[in-house]
Amino acid sequence: MDACSDDELVAEAWAARERALCDYSHFAVGAVLEDEAGVRWSGANVENASYNLGLCAERVALYYALTHGGRGFRRIAIVTDAALPTPPCGSCRQVLFEFARDATLILENVAGERQVYTIRELLPHAFESSYLKR
Ligand code: THU
Repeated sequence: MDACSDDELVAEAWAARERALCDYSHFAVGAVLEDEAGVRWSGANVENASYNLGLCAERVALYYALTHGGRGFRRIAIVTDAALPTPPCGSCRQVLFEFARDATLILENVAGERQVYTIRELLPHAFESSYLKR
């Protein structure tokens, strides 16, 4: 599949955000990951009346991708209507480091403000599997 532009990737994240289930926080997040084959995998946050069971958009999209064969993620777009572009939470950073550590993150808010980071920038000195070897 041909790689799309950053603008198209971000547009897909906005479309994914429409499917957020966020009745409790009313904070909708959309995320799209592009894999090494150019396939794009999207997700949105899903909340629950038992609040701690909710899952962030980034992990919904990532787990969807991983369980359907997506690998080698290159770009991830994350969108919200916050005053500033919203970076992934600490839990998502850890999970993204495991499975998408070379990806570029493109964050956009509703005003069209955009920030670009790498996972490594957002999670320096990350814990990862090599530490499990004693
Ligand atoms: N949320 C995400 O989807 N991604 C993040 O990285 C930060 C937070 C969601 C979780 C919850 O449904 C809502 O935003 C408010 O925290």
